Order: sequence, then structure tokens, then C-alpha cells
Amino acid sequence: MTSCPCGNSTHPCTMVVFGASGDLTKRKLLPALLDLETRGLLPPELVVVGYGRTAKNDALWREEAEQALREHVREPDAAAIQRLCQRLHYEAGNYTSTEDLARFAQRVKQIAHCQALANTLFYFALPPSVTEELIGQLTHTPFTAEGGRAHPRQRALMEKPFGRDLETARRMNQRVLALFDEQQVYRVDHYLAKDTVRNLMVFRFANAIFEPLWNRMHIDNVQITVAESLTIEGRGGYYEEAGVVRDMLQNHALQVLALVAMDPPLAGDEESIRDRKHEVFRSFRPLAQGDFVYGQYQGYRQETGVAADSVVPTYAAIRTYIDNWRWQGVPFYLRSGKGLGRKVTDVAIQFRTVPLCILGSEEACAAIRPNVLHLRIQPDEGISLTFNAQQPGGSDLVGQTQLGFRYADLGKVTAESYAKVVLDALQGRPALFWRSDSVEAAWSYVQPMLERELSLTPEALPLYTVGSAGPVAADELLQRDGRNWLEPVGTL
Ligand code: BG6
Repeated sequence: MTSCPCGNSTHPCTMVVFGASGDLTKRKLLPALLDLETRGLLPPELVVVGYGRTAKNDALWREEAEQALREHVREPDAAAIQRLCQRLHYEAGNYTSTEDLARFAQRVKQIAHCQALANTLFYFALPPSVTEELIGQLTHTPFTAEGGRAHPRQRALMEKPFGRDLETARRMNQRVLALFDEQQVYRVDHYLAKDTVRNLMVFRFANAIFEPLWNRMHIDNVQITVAESLTIEGRGGYYEEAGVVRDMLQNHALQVLALVAMDPPLAGDEESIRDRKHEVFRSFRPLAQGDFVYGQYQGYRQETGVAADSVVPTYAAIRTYIDNWRWQGVPFYLRSGKGLGRKVTDVAIQFRTVPLCILGSEEACAAIRPNVLHLRIQPDEGISLTFNAQQPGGSDLVGQTQLGFRYADLGKVTAESYAKVVLDALQGRPALFWRSDSVEAAWSYVQPMLERELSLTPEALPLYTVGSAGPVAADELLQRDGRNWLEPVGTL
């Protein structure tokens, strides 16, 4: 009997790519696979079988893939491209046709190592409505086991958005979970693939000195900034349907917040990370009308594909409270927007100030500021702690200085690595992917914002200048609490 490592492997040996001709596959998936191929991290027997509506054969897809890799990867390894291309196969068909999909399954079976469909990783790079439809169809194809459920070793790698509100997210989850078990579903949030986002856990739980301070006794407030200098860059059609809450806040910003706020997970239990994050989502105090503000950059309405009277917000700021023991009374302020002064993702943790000034000089006491810890996620990835220090010269002057650490000093930083997303899915590590209950909890939390969007009028939506720090209303949100935005520090 011939040995069949794949037949016994717990990990996928076949990757099926739905949406193989699309942009996401070219820009993200193929470069990620090349990265893994170059580093020898792909299972030797892995084959990648693309499916799409456009008719083409293996040779043409390989040619296109090579072209895309040369375009999107800096200094690609030519030998690795050849090795990767040898793994690629393609079949054309419709996403709504059970016959086409059944034919595709037969083709995959011929190509797959040991003809095994049972450990396929499905990658869905399709618009949500098409994915939903397709998942319904897959149940009736030879890809699935008896009863129309996925084989236990199959996995699904899915791109955002996971719905556009609570109702659609629930529907999508029902569809997906009718086919797969939760443990088999990998819902991507590319922010969780950034080294420095992952580092939030290392920083908190691999160092003994910060965790004792990480609570309402010592922290005054937390600020999370996810700012972009780019505008919508011609993606008017998409953005008019999305807006900042669906595009950035409900997903990326809330994930960062959850990693900052969660309790320590159980040692060695990856699922516990998702449990702890979910507890944060469940502890959000429901948003009141005064807890958030919107803005739109000037000129948005003149963008291609945007309505002349569009009220789609390109900026939002929120004040969030987490009603649990650790964070009771500590506001978390979040802001995100397009067309801002700079691109930066930063977590600023402001500590409480000293209980009493004992410096004996009014001037020195007045100069004391609370300590601020900045966790800079991108760019200039790093960490800095501002603290008060006696200024040199023997006077009573107190000023602020910083202790800083730059990731770049450790070596090359991979700001975002899609390769890690693919590798985690191949290796069966779902910890840093969205879970269905958290997706729904996050939608439920932003629901009052989405409802307010429906009643916004052009007059009621504050405008801000491109290149600015956002609308004045966002400053006022904090000023009402006697606070100000802590500007992300520059180069550390
Ligand atoms: C995507 C949004 O999820 O994230 C885009 O759809 C946004 O609008 C992008 O520009 C930002 O990602 P990054 O990694 O550049 O901060």
C-alpha cells in the first residue's frame, strides 16, 4: 500500500480558492503563499485549486499568478515562484450551480494528494452575498460528508465583512455553521496578523511589571487611534455601502481594544484567548447617543461613485465603557477616519496622576503630568512611556521625557503579514480570528451607530478638512469628560 501522509494528516493538503481570478487572491493570497513557499513552510503535498467564473486553464492561471507575484511582491524568489506555480490548478464554473461545483469537486479529487477532499481548506475571497449562496450549494456537492456537513478536518478561511449589521451577520453565521463547526471557521481580521497587534499579548502577559497596573486602580483612560491619511481612493461604490463603522471600527478597532482590555487567557489554551476577548465584547456598556460622533472629510461627496448629498461618515469617535470589575469607570476612547493628517494606529494608556505632590514648589507640582504608555502599532512600531523628570540645571523645573523602544531595532518588522493568516489556518490555530459570537456581539454594540447613520442629514454631519485631526466634535467628546486626545508620539 502506498503511504499517504495527507490522508492521515490533521492539516489541509488541498486549498480550494473561491474567487481565484479576483483582486484579493492576486494581492494578498498568492503573495502570502509565495512567502510561505520561500520559507519552506507549505506542506510539500499541498495543492491549490482555484475556482472562478472566468474561463481559463491551469497554464493561464499559473501565468497570471506569476505576473501578479512579480507585481505585488518585492524581490520575489524566482525558484519559489516556479515551485508555487506547480501547485496551482484552475477550474471555471458558476457559484450557484450545483452541477458546476460537483464537477469541480471531482476535478479537485483527481488533483488532490491521495484524492482526499476531507482535509481541504476552503478560501472564500468573494462578496458576502456570493459566499452565502455558495455555502448553501456546497452542502449538495461531493466536497461534504454524509448529511451535507463538512468533513471534520476541512476548514474555511473567510474574508470580512461578516455581515453588514447584526441581522445579516446572524444569517451568515447560521449559513456557515450549517456546514462547518465553529472550530473549522477562520474569519480573517488582518489587524490580528500585524506583529505589533500580536505583541499586545506578549507585552501584557510575558512581562510581570505591567499587569498589576492594568486596571481601574491605576489607569485613567485608554485611547485607541486608527487613523488613515488616505481618502477612499476611488472606492466610492464600496465605501458608500460601508462607512467608517463597518470598514474599520466594528472590526479592527474593536479587536485592538479587546486585546488591550481582556483578562489573561488560560495557559496553553488558544480558545481561551477568544473566550477572554468575547467577555470584553459582552461587557460593553450599550452606547448612548452622546457616546459617539461622526464626521466626513471635505470633498468626499465629489469622489467618484459617491452621492452628491452623501451622509456616509468617514470618521467616527466613540466613548466606550467596559462594565466589568477590572475596567469599571475607565473610559476607552476610539477614533478612526480617512483623510486625516497621518496614518497611525496607536494605543495610549493614560495612568492616574500621583495622589499628592510633595515637590515643594507650585511650579514643579503644576508641571507634573500623568504617565502615558503608547503602544504604537503602525508605523514606527514600538512602545514608549512618558514620565516626569527633573530638568537639568538645578532648578525646580519638571518636564516630561520618554523611555522608548523601536521594533525596528529588533530587526525587520512585518507590519502585516497575510502569510501568518494563511499559516494559522493551515496549522489549525484559530485564536487570532473572529468567532461567530464575538462578530455578533460587536455588531450588536455598534447597532445604535448604524441606526443613527440612517437619520443623518448633510447639515448634521460635521465636515473636516483633509489632512486635519478630524472634526471638532471628536475633541468635544473628550473635553466634556475633562480630557483631551493624546496625540500619538512621533518617531520614538
Ligand atoms: C481595510 C479597510 O480593512 O483596512 C480599508 O477596508 C483600510 O479601508 C484598511 O484602508 C487599513 O488597513 P491597514 O493595514 O493599512 O491599516
